[in-house]
Amino acid sequence: MERTLVMIKPDGVQRNLIGKVISIFEEKGLRVVALKKVKLSKEQAKQFYVVHKERPFFESLTDYMSSGPVVAMVLEGEQAIKRVREIMGATDPKEAQEGTIRKLFAIDKEKNTVHGSDSPESAAKEIPFFFSEYELLSAE
Ligand code: TYD
Repeated sequence: MERTLVMIKPDGVQRNLIGKVISIFEEKGLRVVALKKVKLSKEQAKQFYVVHKERPFFESLTDYMSSGPVVAMVLEGEQAIKRVREIMGATDPKEAQEGTIRKLFAIDKEKNTVHGSDSPESAAKEIPFFFSEYELLSAE
């Protein structure tokens, strides 16, 4: 069993897509072990995306990620990190496969509706960014 951090970004929350996005993950067998709605400050957005701090899109991305509420969750399942990345689709919706969340809902490569940890190392940092151990509750 593996756990990964997923976020529904401001464009998804703003367009009332919280339930639809969670349903897609649940239908694929992933389970919600933690869930909360929060608004990141600019500083928190910069901290969350610190690996991208030298990239040209960093300012715009962190402005966007702090522009409205997000929904953070921890999903659990076999190979959860890889499966969530497949279900999300490519960063740019123009390149995303049919049926993926980003193909269905993303506006562009910044406002792309969902985030999912890209590796076990990222998940190990991103889960405690939002949740403490007592908030993580497996179904079984
Ligand atoms: P990245 O880690 O490359 O993509 P993913 O979210 O698919 O793991 O980039 C992180 C986020 O940075 C991405 O979801 C949206 C933003 N971003 C841009 O705004 N412009 C870009 O050109 C890229 C590559 C990313």
